[in-house]
Amino acid sequence: MQLLRAVLAAALLLLATLSDAHNITTILSKHPEFSTFNHYLTLTHLAPEINGKTTITVCAVDNAAMSDLLSKHPSIYTIKNILSLHVLLDYFGAKKLHQITNGTALAATMYQATGSAPGSAGFVNITDLHGGKVGFGAENNDGTLSSTFVKSVEEIPYNISVIQISKVLPSAAAEAPAPAPTQQNLTNIMSKHGCKVFADALSAQPDALNTFNDNLDGGLTVFCPLDDAFKAFLPKFKNLTKSGKVALLEFHGVPVYQSKATLKSNNGLQNTLATDGANKFDFTVQNDGEDVTLKTKLTTAKITDTFV
Ligand SMILES: *[C@@H]1O[C@H](CO)[C@@H](O)[C@H](O)[C@H]1NC(C)=O
Ligand SMILES: *[C@@H]1O[C@H](CO)[C@@H](O)[C@H](O)[C@H]1NC(C)=O
Ligand SMILES: *[C@@H]1O[C@H](CO)[C@@H](O)[C@H](O)[C@H]1NC(C)=O
Ligand SMILES: *[C@@H]1O[C@H](CO)[C@@H](O)[C@H](O)[C@H]1NC(C)=O
Ligand SMILES: *[C@@H]1O[C@H](CO)[C@@H](O)[C@H](O)[C@H]1NC(C)=O
Ligand SMILES: *[C@@H]1O[C@H](CO)[C@@H](O)[C@H](O)[C@H]1NC(C)=O
Repeated sequence: MQLLRAVLAAALLLLATLSDAHNITTILSKHPEFSTFNHYLTLTHLAPEINGKTTITVCAVDNAAMSDLLSKHPSIYTIKNILSLHVLLDYFGAKKLHQITNGTALAATMYQATGSAPGSAGFVNITDLHGGKVGFGAENNDGTLSSTFVKSVEEIPYNISVIQISKVLPSAAAEAPAPAPTQQNLTNIMSKHGCKVFADALSAQPDALNTFNDNLDGGLTVFCPLDDAFKAFLPKFKNLTKSGKVALLEFHGVPVYQSKATLKSNNGLQNTLATDGANKFDFTVQNDGEDVTLKTKLTTAKITDTFV
């Protein structure tokens, strides 16, 4: 536990040194009326995902609007879905909002990009209304545009636009209770993503599996080797001692949540669940265009998918 905490601190320090073109946390911290919204962007890990993207619009709501949402006591996972519906994957400054071609548009959101939004639930309808108003509504929400543009908070064309809208966008799909990661079966998720051989090896080592599960709540990134890669490595793996096997498996987990965007902006050494002083299995993340390659002393694994 002591060790994991030290590892976590070291990894966080590493993340803190990253520099992105914009920092949503810093932008919103200048405006205390959005402190609750800002707090939840951090808690849900949406902030680093926003920082890793350009051509993006964040529709912030003030603390009163956030209290309305929080009074329904949604889980943090549901809040994440709802807030990700408020991040538009296009740049909408105040000027563009008031001059939408044909007066109406649909914007894809980060909720749509998660793949968990059913149908068109991850799109936001933006419509220019009478009297210079701009209405916002979730696309599947029976056509009601219940929220309106209030003001522009900060515009960095065409990287990020932060605007205020009057209310949280109602969306039955985003508000539906979302399962917590701990209720999810880690090995099943890995198997579904082409890492069944690795998942089976992990299931066979309860010590390593417990380490992974213990880290789910605090945030965990798993670099799971695809079946072909891990199959080729199996003869060597089977030859390892029990503690060697556990260390190798734990080596594929990083005790912090990292999005693909964070990894891409991050060239350098990472600590893993296997880090243990001198016997560390550190690895280097190397950016290679769209792919993120992990260079290690043991093997090179390419991240082809990110999930959870
Ligand atoms: C916009 O983003 C690009 C790429 O990240 C960066 O090089 C540029 O400096 C940013 N522009 C502003 C005004 O911050
Ligand atoms: C963004 O700013 C916050 C506080 O202002 C800071 O804690 C965080 O490390 C910054 N993130 C990045 C990626 O620089
Ligand atoms: C605007 O409306 C015209 C006429 O209906 C149509 O041809 C055009 O594709 C529309 N433009 C957009 C961006 O929706
Ligand atoms: C947006 O919603 C309004 C009001 O329900 C509707 O008239 C309009 O067609 C919608 N826009 C798009 C692009 O779907
Ligand atoms: C996860 O699923 C596997 C296979 O379906 C099962 O053997 C295992 O017990 C499950 N683990 C948990 C924690 O439910
Ligand atoms: C297994 O270990 C033995 C003894 O260290 C070694 O000679 C052999 O080459 C190893 N086999 C593989 C497949 O690594």
